[in-house]
Amino acid sequence: MNEGKRVLITGAAGFIGYHLSSRLLEQGIPVCGLDNLNDYYDVNLKKARLKLLSRHADFQFIRADISDEAAIRNCFLHARPNIVVHLAAQAGVRYSITNPEAYLQSNLIGFFRILEACRHSEEICGQKLSHLVYASSSSVYGSNQKVPYSTQDRADHPVSLYAATKKSNELMAYAYSKLYGIPATGLRFFTVYGPLGRPDMAYFSFTDKMVRGEKIQLFNNGDMYRDFTYIDDIVSGVVKVMSRVPDPDENGVWHKIYNIGNNRPETLLHFVETLERCLMETGVINRPAVKEFLPMQPGDVYQTYADIEDLEKDFGFRPQTGLDDGLLKFARWYAGFYPRTAKPD
Ligand SMILES: NC(=O)c1ccc[n+]([C@@H]2O[C@H](COP(=O)([O-])OP(=O)(O)OC[C@H]3O[C@@H](n4cnc5c(N)ncnc54)[C@H](O)[C@@H]3O)[C@@H](O)[C@H]2O)c1
Repeated sequence: MNEGKRVLITGAAGFIGYHLSSRLLEQGIPVCGLDNLNDYYDVNLKKARLKLLSRHADFQFIRADISDEAAIRNCFLHARPNIVVHLAAQAGVRYSITNPEAYLQSNLIGFFRILEACRHSEEICGQKLSHLVYASSSSVYGSNQKVPYSTQDRADHPVSLYAATKKSNELMAYAYSKLYGIPATGLRFFTVYGPLGRPDMAYFSFTDKMVRGEKIQLFNNGDMYRDFTYIDDIVSGVVKVMSRVPDPDENGVWHKIYNIGNNRPETLLHFVETLERCLMETGVINRPAVKEFLPMQPGDVYQTYADIEDLEKDFGFRPQTGLDDGLLKFARWYAGFYPRTAKPD
């Protein structure tokens, strides 16, 4: 069934890209990973992920920037992919305030280069692309109040440049599907957590703060609902999506967007208390977290979570991992990666 599959994963040194690459390699599918190893967060973590991947004979890595046209063509020539999973992007909402250029370069120019390479894939490497799967984000829902967030809802009021680039990616992919018949599936990821995760995300920085004995701020006294999805569940969903191209829509365009997340939101307080317990259990911290309970902040949304009905109906996607289990796995990894709380500030 995996015969002849060749997958190119952009952002392979990233959190989701690493875990997806590992899963495919374990299933005997060759992976070519691409990443520019930028220093948006700790490069050692990206290198550590690559080191683990390089233990597989079927893994090849190309260090390149997705906005570099020649490098991307070379990469296609080398990988001859029939499936591309495009995860490389400048992520993070706050960073887009201080470094807007990075978002234009990676998320717009870079995304365009990937689309162009997919369009010309046959000329570049003699291999027609059968499916492009690309990362979008729940941030496209902006400050929508209606929950759960559904792909049927309007998503044209972004509240960050990051969100605006992700929404643009969906439109660009749609246009390329329409114009050049590239089957493409966009995945709106909701918050993903787990081992080898992203240090810029809240659960990771809460952990760092607990280690340093700093205060954790809980707005609306922690009474805010969010959905969190464990990385293995996300990877299972992505693998399912990769296996089948979308049906043509009402305009005959082979493009579809799914939410990929969890439809069981947790309160922030419960999340932090579970994280705290797991970190105590694994010896990452030896004293309770200092929590600061604060009122709701203007602009905060009380609850957000994903409507994942489409993904469930089309692919049988159903997250399996509970918070206790998932956060314990994260804590065990953290304890090993940053032994004796020696993590640099
Ligand atoms: N993790 C989440 O909770 C989450 C939520 C919503 C959306 N997403 C999206 O999913 C995708 C993967 O996210 P992640 O959490 O693994 O992020 P990540 O930052 O860990 O991984 C992205 C990788 O892309 C690489 N990259 C960035 N710009 C590049 C460029 N110009 N050229 C080549 N490589 C480049 C980075 O070095 C990084 O290793 C991203 O597109 C992100 O926007 C993730």
